Amino acid sequence: MEFDFEKLAADDRYKLLSSTIVPRPIAWVTTLSKNGVRNAAPFSFFNAMSSDPALLAVGIMADGDCMKDTARNILDTREFVVNLVPRVAAEAMNLTSIDAPPEIDELALAKLGTLPSLKVKPERIAISPVSFECRLHTPIELSNQLIAIGEVVQAHIADDAMLDPSRLYVDTPKLDLISRLHGRGLYGTAETAFEMPRPQSYEALKNEKARV
Ligand SMILES: Cc1cc2nc3c(=O)[nH]c(=O)nc-3n(C[C@H](O)[C@H](O)[C@H](O)COP(=O)(O)O)c2cc1C
Repeated sequence: MEFDFEKLAADDRYKLLSSTIVPRPIAWVTTLSKNGVRNAAPFSFFNAMSSDPALLAVGIMADGDCMKDTARNILDTREFVVNLVPRVAAEAMNLTSIDAPPEIDELALAKLGTLPSLKVKPERIAISPVSFECRLHTPIELSNQLIAIGEVVQAHIADDAMLDPSRLYVDTPKLDLISRLHGRGLYGTAETAFEMPRPQSYEALKNEKARV
């Protein structure tokens, strides 16, 4: 079927995007308001965009006629931390997605311990095996939405998930990270992973084809 995105209602565009672009990693974003109130919320319109500089993008949609607290805080302070979500923290992550007023500290609500960040003020979530401290690189403001492009200035990776720190080898399966799948509440892990080396070069591919 064909879908004219220029004519579809926003809700329908969301439905088609979120049920096809899967799995999506989850950025569990911690921020501080300009008054110092802590905030945490998950966002799955998220990914790494570049490594030089190291840029991440998080899509924070509107909350009716307002900005979500995370978007407001990022614009006000230009700092945020992206924590990745291990399976063991799934329920706590879900709880922090609650639509709560700005003065509510979702970290306290979900009884989540935090650890200090090194370069930015918002703390990181202790149970997350990976946290990226970010400074706002480019804000894309679309009425009450924000696409926050952040530059990673510090990464924390759990010691026991480093296979060989001298070579920066990470034991990725050990991180046991969850991702968002289709539907309202379906999540996945990397358990169905399969291996496939990248083609080496066009020349090698041509030679391979010539042999068969
Ligand atoms: C797994 C998950 C992924 C989510 N992804 C997004 C997202 O990509 N963009 C968004 O605007 N809201 C997303 N939400 C909803 C926000 O987490 C929710 O609106 C939250 O209340 C925002 O909090 P804040 O106002 O403190 O920023 C997601 C919720 C869950 C549970």
